[in-house]
Amino acid sequence: MSENRRILSGMRSTNPKLHIGNYEGALRNWVELQESGHEMFCMVADWHALTTMQGNSGEAGYNAREVAKDFVAAGIDPARSAVFIQSHVKEHAELHLLLSMITPLGWLERNPTYKEKQGEVGGVEREPYGLLGYPVLQTADILLYRPLGVPVGRDQAPHLEIGNDIGQRFNRLFEVEIFGPYKYLIPADENRAKVPGLDMRKMSKSYDNCIYLTDTPDETAEKIKSAFTTPSKLRKTDPGIPEGCAVCQYLKIYSPFWETQWSEDIAGERGCMQNKKELTEIINEYFRPMRERRAALSDGDIEDILISGADKARAVASETMSMVRKAMGLY
Ligand code: TYM
Repeated sequence: MSENRRILSGMRSTNPKLHIGNYEGALRNWVELQESGHEMFCMVADWHALTTMQGNSGEAGYNAREVAKDFVAAGIDPARSAVFIQSHVKEHAELHLLLSMITPLGWLERNPTYKEKQGEVGGVEREPYGLLGYPVLQTADILLYRPLGVPVGRDQAPHLEIGNDIGQRFNRLFEVEIFGPYKYLIPADENRAKVPGLDMRKMSKSYDNCIYLTDTPDETAEKIKSAFTTPSKLRKTDPGIPEGCAVCQYLKIYSPFWETQWSEDIAGERGCMQNKKELTEIINEYFRPMRERRAALSDGDIEDILISGADKARAVASETMSMVRKAMGLY
């Protein structure tokens, strides 16, 4: 009954802060799904963060707790939704191992994220096995909760597809109906599904082009000042090209007046400085309540939230594992 109201999603804790791409692509939808009565499982993927850390993981526990604080600050209510850390629920590791027995290597080698990350880690001798298996662990994260849907940004679509394929393959091989296909809940609005960074590449921690949820109003102002705008718009009267301008892209997300701002930008009736000033005010106002909630959250608060979150997660995960072990003949 409650099964088809379940939603699972996760974020890697490669650093202690989430950016507005994480928020627009996923977290904002998590909060909306919670408000429309879904049973939310909001996970910090600390094991996934290790795939690119190469031993440099002393801060892993700290980062994971800080990311969990961002979830709560953004509006995830721990009384209704489970907020938990992946490594606290060991069933994720067990299902990952079992699914690795039925996942064809070809599916993983073809994964576009794998190809991208392979380049970053520097050669096969340094490439961890965990990087290739990344989508299998992600699939375990999802299938453990047998969710209705998974809210994520556009970049996660290939992982979600592999996940559904693995689930269906499991059902077929073991002649069970444990895993129904889940929905991909990606924002329809493309500039929310893939939020550009301050330099107009994709917003990403690794490009250092982010506005973080926890940035102060002054830090936000400084970042917006240096954001990429239409290069050929040197004077106010030069025509702007909002599609290629980071500031205009953010106005489209956050400003109720973006249509007027865009048409004035195009017509040369407003300059980039005015756009930047208005955007700074709107963004700082939008994130003010979150920043206040975040500042009020203590380490003790988040510890309690994570303990009860892991308990809620484990209750569902262990039920799924019983079915999986039985299907595979393990007892
Ligand atoms: P991660 O940590 O890279 O990103 C977390 C979420 O933020 C979204 N996102 C963006 N959305 C729009 N624009 C951007 N510039 C942008 N950057 C990031 C991502 O799409 C994602 O929704 N593999 C996952 C973590 C994960 C997971 C899971 C997700 C582990 N297990 C199970 C869903 C279900 C990842 O690395 O996301």
